[in-house]
Amino acid sequence: MSIIRSVVAGCGSYLPERVVTNQDMTKIVDTTDDWIVERTGIHARHIAADGELTSDLALKAARAAIAHAGIDAQEIDTIILATTTPDNTFPATAVTVQAELGIHHGAAFDIQAVCSGFVYALTIADTFIRCGQAKTVLVIGAETFSRLLDWTDRTTCVLFGDGAGAVIVKAGEGEGTNADRGILTAHLHSDGRYKDKLYVDGGPSSTQTTGHVRMEGREVFRHAVVNIADTIKEALAATGLTANDIDWFVPHQANKRILDGTAKRIGLPPEKVVITVGDHGNTSAASVPLALDQAIKDGRIKRGDLVLLEAMGGGFTWGSVLVRW
Ligand code: UT7
Repeated sequence: MSIIRSVVAGCGSYLPERVVTNQDMTKIVDTTDDWIVERTGIHARHIAADGELTSDLALKAARAAIAHAGIDAQEIDTIILATTTPDNTFPATAVTVQAELGIHHGAAFDIQAVCSGFVYALTIADTFIRCGQAKTVLVIGAETFSRLLDWTDRTTCVLFGDGAGAVIVKAGEGEGTNADRGILTAHLHSDGRYKDKLYVDGGPSSTQTTGHVRMEGREVFRHAVVNIADTIKEALAATGLTANDIDWFVPHQANKRILDGTAKRIGLPPEKVVITVGDHGNTSAASVPLALDQAIKDGRIKRGDLVLLEAMGGGFTWGSVLVRW
């Protein structure tokens, strides 16, 4: 039986030039390199330059993904940009990217699911493609998360960084089997009962300010390990595949201890886990496509590989996408 599949045709990413090491962080807040490395696995993060906007990072990642896919930007009929740090409250940052790419047709919009944003955006793209609403979708995760940080709060400011990643997803044909190229299954979740565990204490409707990130780290950690493992099991159950079938696990990069704990829980060997948190910190919606791009460019992820993506973030929101590359 022939069915429509959403095939990932290209990937790209961009990191701001400025690197802030843990040593640099010790000059800003009362912390140590040892504490940050031991608790999180983070060594450094990239921080956007003054005047460098989320749309600037997104555009660079988008151009790289378009080049990697070998398509003309005019083929793109939908742009979905996941971000928590839009250039402005409105219009959507996606329309700025659309205009910069010279695209004047189709639809462009932002989505907001914090660290799960890319997994949400990719799932929306997959649904649009399988419904016939779109044929070529540019999916971006881009953040200038540093702008939301309270740089006097050591419990949060050492954790995050800025960056962007993007993929081109195209309609393709499959047989409806797990051997098909493209997205095999996608699962999204949220549970608003936990919205106060990780949030920003401001917004246009509440305070008319942007606000700063507030987090109960331990609580988020506890839920992350369980929720992520559950959504991975869900992806495997939906396809009848097992952890042994997964070639590469590309998780949201919040904390190396969460990644190690999750891999252990689902029985994945550490060498199959793509880890970038050490050099990037937590880049929220950008972390999964940034990690993907690294593993594609260094030759780890190859055509035909089974790749498992997942994320968990504020809301709580979480989800997984299983893709045949
Ligand atoms: O992407 C969205 C999802 N976010 C996450 O997944 C984050 C999940 N949470 C975590 O990754 C971890 O909970 C953290 C890395 C945030 C914190 O690690 P932890 O092992 O849970 O530490 P903790 O919050 O329990 O704090 C332990 C101690 C505290 O001191 P006391 O109260 O024991 O004296 C903190 O004040 O570490 C202290 N501390 C620090 N010390 C040095 C907190 N931040 C720092 C710091 N440097 N930067």
